[in-house]
Amino acid sequence: MAQDFKKSTVYQIYPKSFCDSNGDGFGDLRGVIGKLDYLQKLGVDYIWMTPFFVSPQNDNGYDVEDYYNIDPRYGTMEDLEELIAEAGKRGIRLMFDMVFNHVSSRHEWFRKAMEGDSYYKDFFFFRKGKENGEPPTNWESKFGGNAWEYVEKFDEYYLHLFHVTQPDLNWDNENVRKELQKVIRFWMEKGVKGFRFDVVNLISKSCFEDDETGDGRKYYTDGPNVHKYLHELNQATFGTDAEIITVGEMSSTSIENCYSYAGADTQELSMVFSFHHLKVDFMGNEKWVLVPADFGKLKDILFTWQTKMEEHHAWNAVFWCNHDQPRPVSRFGNEGSLWKESAKMLGTVIHCMRGTPYIYQGEEIGMTNTDFTDISQFRDVESLNYYQILQDKGLAARDALRIVQIHSRDNGRTPMQWDDSKYAGFTDAASEQEPWIGVNANHDRINAASQVEDEDSIFNHYRKLVRMRKELDVIAYGSFLPLAEKHPSVLAYRRTYEKQDLIVVNNFYGKECTWKSGLDMEGYRCILSNYADGNPASEDGVWTLRPYESMVWYKERT
Ligand code: GLC
Repeated sequence: MAQDFKKSTVYQIYPKSFCDSNGDGFGDLRGVIGKLDYLQKLGVDYIWMTPFFVSPQNDNGYDVEDYYNIDPRYGTMEDLEELIAEAGKRGIRLMFDMVFNHVSSRHEWFRKAMEGDSYYKDFFFFRKGKENGEPPTNWESKFGGNAWEYVEKFDEYYLHLFHVTQPDLNWDNENVRKELQKVIRFWMEKGVKGFRFDVVNLISKSCFEDDETGDGRKYYTDGPNVHKYLHELNQATFGTDAEIITVGEMSSTSIENCYSYAGADTQELSMVFSFHHLKVDFMGNEKWVLVPADFGKLKDILFTWQTKMEEHHAWNAVFWCNHDQPRPVSRFGNEGSLWKESAKMLGTVIHCMRGTPYIYQGEEIGMTNTDFTDISQFRDVESLNYYQILQDKGLAARDALRIVQIHSRDNGRTPMQWDDSKYAGFTDAASEQEPWIGVNANHDRINAASQVEDEDSIFNHYRKLVRMRKELDVIAYGSFLPLAEKHPSVLAYRRTYEKQDLIVVNNFYGKECTWKSGLDMEGYRCILSNYADGNPASEDGVWTLRPYESMVWYKERT
């Protein structure tokens, strides 16, 4: 039976940081198997596993050397098969992460290309430099620096939109597309029921020209053949199995393109991740700056994507974080005395929206950003590159570090905090081997063991949210209507479906505020709140909201 992805919740696992079963400091597949009961308790339907395929790990597995085999650091094919089977017994399906925009430079295709094999050279973008000796274009790599790498023996450059060890694949070559289809079919046969496609809106490059006004993204983002290629992939692989759900990671995409990527009838993907709402603390597209989050903008972006995607019968993935983002409670909430209230509020905001919610490991227990104080504690290639780039631009090391601390992807990559033991239960406390990345010292206070049985915990708040989506059609299928659009601290909306009506009210800040909603709350009851009691509005619809107060009110019309 096809699972209804509108009623489903996906849990994202970054296996390297989730649970280490063999004491080598790296999380692994057997570690995940050991935590399936925990995930079943949370109630999630899918586990999205970030890549565990053979890889030199220059970008933590997003540099794939072999799509068909498991990196021994993570375990074996038997472990993976057991994971799929054991998850299945608990009603949980697996979603795999397909990194198809690029491969690792150690992938056989690229090695052959570098040996001069013209069949494989055409799997990539090799181009001559400019006459003046510069690279073919001025495009910038997403991880910093020029996006072209010179290969002396060919007197040519190859394109890498990410790290130099992640050469871009040439999707215009049909042989590439056929090879990638094989990969999907291989995993479908193993019983995989979901696919996440990494930066998949970058696969179609329009032309190789200098970008006079930007970093080049306009020449490869949502490119000319991207819809055609996705439709083709759908028809040749997962589109034949109604049980499979798919999500595309869309980098700097436009909403108009997403109507098609995630359209109900376009046969491309089930849903999309877009990131505009997570750039509200950037300066334009510039991430490596310190700017306070712009709440008005955040609300505007979330509401626009909610309403427009609905209008166009397209489906969103809704989320605050993943392995590339800082922790939401540190970013938008409060790490101090209102930690619990703010973490629950953030969960409610996302989970009652129209779209499939994603929970990133540790979010459900309110994990915070790292407490790293020295650059040597960071591991992420992007963070390390930018620490250097910022100093090259003239920033003092101290200021560069501050920016990295706030924005680093490592904020989301510290080990999952299972308990208060030495390594937070991620790896055995008696292990000689330290975790590959430091554990946050606050694991003595923030950990799963202290939350699972506590009714009032963040974990149990998330558990309720997951269940509510299954129980109430209005959450899964309802229309979305923005409320309080101009209010400086309230994020509120309404959902309606047949006879069901839902009002979601959130104070996004740590200060009490008032909202003259004008809503008639007759007949509504509060079904979820982050304070002991839901706080009703006055008769004329005025709410006095406590710090980070968050409530869900429900009514069934007669
Ligand atoms: C995506 C992944 C990220 C990776 C990049 C390159 O954005 O989520 O972790 O570095 O693609 O594959």
